[in-house]
Amino acid sequence: MRLEGKVALISGAAMGVKGELMGIGGATAWLFAREGAKLVLADINADKGEKTAAQLRESGADAVFVPLDATSEQDWVRAVDTAVSRFGKLNILVQCAGTTVPGGVEQTTVKMWNQMMDLHGKGMFLGTKHAIPAMRKAGGGSIVILSSTDGMIGGGFSASYAAAKGANRLFARAAAIQYAKDNIRVNSLHPGEVDTPLARSAIGEVMEQGGTDPRLDWIPMGRLATAGEVAHSILFLASDESWYMTGAELVIDGGITAR
Ligand SMILES: NC(=O)c1ccc[n+]([C@@H]2O[C@H](COP(=O)([O-])OP(=O)(O)OC[C@H]3O[C@@H](n4cnc5c(N)ncnc54)[C@H](O)[C@@H]3O)[C@@H](O)[C@H]2O)c1
Repeated sequence: MRLEGKVALISGAAMGVKGELMGIGGATAWLFAREGAKLVLADINADKGEKTAAQLRESGADAVFVPLDATSEQDWVRAVDTAVSRFGKLNILVQCAGTTVPGGVEQTTVKMWNQMMDLHGKGMFLGTKHAIPAMRKAGGGSIVILSSTDGMIGGGFSASYAAAKGANRLFARAAAIQYAKDNIRVNSLHPGEVDTPLARSAIGEVMEQGGTDPRLDWIPMGRLATAGEVAHSILFLASDESWYMTGAELVIDGGITAR
């Protein structure tokens, strides 16, 4: 029960339906529930989000779903308000909402660029901005921002995604310095290649054509991570076990960035 008494808001948590491939947010919701947290799940996919929350409740967890477009300030205000009105406070924010568009610089349109910057850049800023007053009232908190190894080393898959994930990394550090005195910690997490619905849809075309998975070539451990494995590192950053960590960049990548 490493999160007993804590209230957590997780964005991008809809992909947590039992029996289906889970995303990082969905797997985190199940792990957090097992560790005693009360949960607000938020996502643009209301159908899967409601289903995940209902299954969590059936399993005995305290969980609600709130629709959230992470690019909307109003939606973030509502999501934080839901945590406070339903459970009395907010201690943890995990920002998993995300998507990707493939393409090098010349293949990237302004629309693609704006989509990446809006969701990852503006979205993570808005979530953090509106969680902070509630966390201050709670005496402190932990914010985990899902960046990527692409936000550290660029990667070759998508110029706009790498740029947006790089923005997440430095935003987390700036916020960490600003709110350390309020006991609000902000850390970024940098997964490498994780087998999730989002990653499968991004790599789908290659795999459908019967090609070998190109990602395996650059992972020293020779396999993708599961969403559950990434959820454990999120749990560490969210819990009091990482109390002295803020502005840190935790890498979970099977050795990719060690190359
Ligand atoms: N899968 C990977 O290999 C990988 C690697 C590094 C980083 N990440 C990052 O981790 C996070 C989670 O990725 P995942 O692969 O587990 O994803 P996932 O398969 O769980 O899908 C992402 C979720 O975000 C939701 N979402 C999309 N747009 C949204 C919006 N505008 N508002 C609210 N919710 C929205 C989707 O509905 C979905 O539930 C993302 O930020 C992703 O960029 C993933």
